[in-house]
Amino acid sequence: MRSLISLVVNFTLFIRAISAQKYVFAHVVVGDTTAHTQATWASDIALAKAAAIDAFMLDIAYGDSNVPIQVGNAFAAAEAASFKLAFSFDYLGVVSYLNQYVSSSAYLFYSSAAFVSTFEGTSNIGDWAQGGTIRSAVSSSIYFVPDYTSLGPSGISPYLNDIEGAFSWNIWPEGATNMTDAPDVQWVDALSPSGKTYMMGVSPWFFHSASGGTEWVWRGDDMWADRWEQTFQVNPQFVEIVTWNDYGESHYIGPLHDSSEIPTGSAIYDTNNPHDSWRDFLPYYIATYKGNSFNIAHDQMQYWYHTSPVAGGSTCGVVGNNPSYQTEVSPNTIVEDAVFFSALLTSAATVTVQIGNGPVNSYAGTAGHNHWSLAFGGQTGVPVFCVVRGGATVQCSSNAAPITATTTLSNGCTNYNAWVGSWQNDGSSTGSGSTSSSPTTATPTQTSGQVCIAGTGPGNYAEVGSR
Ligand SMILES: *[C@@H]1O[C@H](CO)[C@@H](O)[C@H](O)[C@H]1NC(C)=O
Repeated sequence: MRSLISLVVNFTLFIRAISAQKYVFAHVVVGDTTAHTQATWASDIALAKAAAIDAFMLDIAYGDSNVPIQVGNAFAAAEAASFKLAFSFDYLGVVSYLNQYVSSSAYLFYSSAAFVSTFEGTSNIGDWAQGGTIRSAVSSSIYFVPDYTSLGPSGISPYLNDIEGAFSWNIWPEGATNMTDAPDVQWVDALSPSGKTYMMGVSPWFFHSASGGTEWVWRGDDMWADRWEQTFQVNPQFVEIVTWNDYGESHYIGPLHDSSEIPTGSAIYDTNNPHDSWRDFLPYYIATYKGNSFNIAHDQMQYWYHTSPVAGGSTCGVVGNNPSYQTEVSPNTIVEDAVFFSALLTSAATVTVQIGNGPVNSYAGTAGHNHWSLAFGGQTGVPVFCVVRGGATVQCSSNAAPITATTTLSNGCTNYNAWVGSWQNDGSSTGSGSTSSSPTTATPTQTSGQVCIAGTGPGNYAEVGSR
């Protein structure tokens, strides 16, 4: 129960919060950058800047000798590009990293303090106390926003003096349900009376396919559209996109650079599943979250799905939910056999979707952001996603991955990873699976069943095509 006083306090903090700058970060697993050079980092940073992302949160894993090299490459590239980086630690080798890099022009400062996050590490909370071992050893003040999801919003209160904000990794739903913002609201309510900020996680998908340990699925489906809408409601101070490059859990929105960077066991599920098109709406989502106006200059669509019904392959040991703390169910009860699609429209228009030779389904789109899904309904073939206005087709997708009745993977397993495509009607295109052609007929076009692994963006996404 909130008292009137806490409402007044919250309102005061709200006023303060909206005057402070909001940020959107992307979580980068530095352990998955083994083949990166400074130039690869520069390319990643250019893509992130184009998507309106403010900074990379570098996830530093202990005991990986390549990490110090890649951190050096990342800072060199970020300094040259005027981009920001900050550390997300899951161990305590933090002091030397911070003292080496807080003086870099690329290090992210917030409220005149170096922004630092973690992935868990709750057994070492005391080390982060004000005036404690870490803060007293680092040459700048620290703005500490840890992920202490295991404590939960009800368990954070004894530690509020040790932190400046908190990040929740509770961002995927359990079972056949949609992710809601209820846990985020609980975190905001636990933090804001003390003036602490909240960092909200936004993730598009989850299929843990890396070998070793349990392989599991949580529902993604509509989530990339739903979660961004939830950031508009929750209005957190920070958003962290989970992730840029976690190929082993299938929630990457950055490019696949090199097969050697994909964890063992995941390559078969990732190689033909680019996710670059998920970045296409980020400039819109991020501007809207920040309360900035955004001019939709041209119609755009993005669409994603698994490319065969879940029953069209074996589960191969993949389970639904994380059985270490949730009830194990069949993964096939969690994810929907459907295509998920969003449209950013300059003005009202009809969106049509046709799977193979199935019926053409029409959706009334409004100016701005729209999102829908369409169950496979037993249809196979290439889905075609079109915007039609005034009886004339503005543009259709021309190279979406076909939906096949059975899995096309050589191991006979269902691929629970998403294939993601997009188009934008600006005469160019970004993102794999996109097209720059502008058909003029009102009939959705049937096109080849090729899976696009190279894009038509700057440099033809050479690093993707060369995998
Ligand atoms: C899940 O979200 C989608 C898209 O927002 C919606 O169409 C669907 O009805 C939701 N399902 C449930 C069970 O709430």
